[in-house]
Amino acid sequence: MNISHNVNLQTYNTFGLSSVAERLVRLESREHIREYFEADEPQPSLVLGGGSNLLLTKDISGTVLKMELAGIKVVNEDQDHVYVKVGAGEVWHSFVMHAIQQGWAGIENLSLIPGSVGAAPMQNIGAYGVEIKQVFHELEAYLTHDRSFQTFGLDDCSFGYRESVFKHALKNKAIITSVTFRLNKRPAFNTSYGAIEAELEKMGVRELSIKAISDAVIHIRQSKLPDPKEIGNSGSFFKNPVIDKEHFQKLKAEFPEVVGYPAGKEHMKVAAGWLIENAGFKGQRFGNYGVHERQALVLVNYGGAKGEDVFQLSETIIKKIDQRFSIKLHREVNVI
Ligand code: EPU
Repeated sequence: MNISHNVNLQTYNTFGLSSVAERLVRLESREHIREYFEADEPQPSLVLGGGSNLLLTKDISGTVLKMELAGIKVVNEDQDHVYVKVGAGEVWHSFVMHAIQQGWAGIENLSLIPGSVGAAPMQNIGAYGVEIKQVFHELEAYLTHDRSFQTFGLDDCSFGYRESVFKHALKNKAIITSVTFRLNKRPAFNTSYGAIEAELEKMGVRELSIKAISDAVIHIRQSKLPDPKEIGNSGSFFKNPVIDKEHFQKLKAEFPEVVGYPAGKEHMKVAAGWLIENAGFKGQRFGNYGVHERQALVLVNYGGAKGEDVFQLSETIIKKIDQRFSIKLHREVNVI
C-alpha cells in the first residue's frame, strides 16, 4: 500500500478537473485491499479506477482508494472460447489491444474506451453495438460490509444500459478486483452499427477481421470524440433517454429529424446528442468549458475549468431539454 496526502487528482480524471484528496491510497493487490479494510480504516470517500466517468466538483475529505491491481491471465479454455481474468487496474484499451493481438474476439467494438477494466462492469460499458455483458463471464469483488471477496456471475450483476447492481444495491459496498471475460476463438463480427460499415468501406477493407473492426472504431471515435489528453472530457456526459413509443411519435411529428432506436416493444431510445444539438448547445463555449463541437453529448474542459461550472452547465441542459421535449436527461457520469 502506498499512501500519500493532499494529492491533486487532476491527472487522475480524464476531465482534468482539479480536486484535492486528503489522502490517496494505492492498492496493488487483493492483500492490500484486505489489509486496508481489516485495519479498521474508515470507509473510502471514493474508489478510483481510470477516472474516465467522473465529474469532480469539490475537494475530497477522507480517503480515495486508487485501484491498481494488474494482470491478464488465461484461466480456462474450451473449443470456442478463452476465459481471461484481468486485474481491475489494467487499462481497458490496452487489454482490448492485447486481446486483438492474441486473436481473441468479442471486444474489438469496444476499442479506445477510456478507463480501467474494473470500472467497465460498473456501467456495463458499450459502444458500436456491443456491451461488455455479452462477453462477461464473472468478476470478483471485495464486499466491504462483510470483509470478504465474492464472485459475481452474469445474473448477479443486473446489467442494463449503462447500469449494474454496483451502481445501485451495491453502491459503495463492493470493490471490483478482477473481471473474467469469455472471448471467442472464432470471431462473430458485429458491424450492425452503420458507421462501422461505412468506415470499413472508406478504409478499403475487403476481408473482415477483429483488427479491421477495431481500427474502424478507433477512426470513428477519433473523428467525433475529443481525446482526453488534449481536451478534458468524460465521453458521453448523459445517457440516451428511453421514452415510450407514443411520446416518440409526438416528438417525431414535431421534429421529423429526431433520431431514435427501438428499445424493447414499447419504448424508444432517443439520441441525446441530437436533442442537445437541436436545443442549440452544440459547440457552445463558456470560457474554459462547454459542449463539444462534434458531439453534443460530450461536455469538455478546455483547461482550468471548475467541476462545479460543468455541473451547472449540465443542469441548464437538463432543464432546457425538459422544457423543449418533455424528456428528462440523466447523467452518465458519476458526480462527486
Ligand atoms: N447526434 C446528433 N448530434 C450530436 C451527436 C449525435 O444529432 O451532436 C446523432 C447522430 O447523428 C446519430 C445519433 O445521434 O444519429 C447517435 O450518435 P452517435 O453514434 O455518436 O452515438 P451516441 O448515441 O451519441 C452512444 C454512446 C457512446 C458510444 C456511441 C457509439 C451513450 C450515452 N453513448 O453515443 O458511448 O461510443 O453510442 O456506440 O450511450 C460513452 O458512453 O461515454 C460513449 C462515448
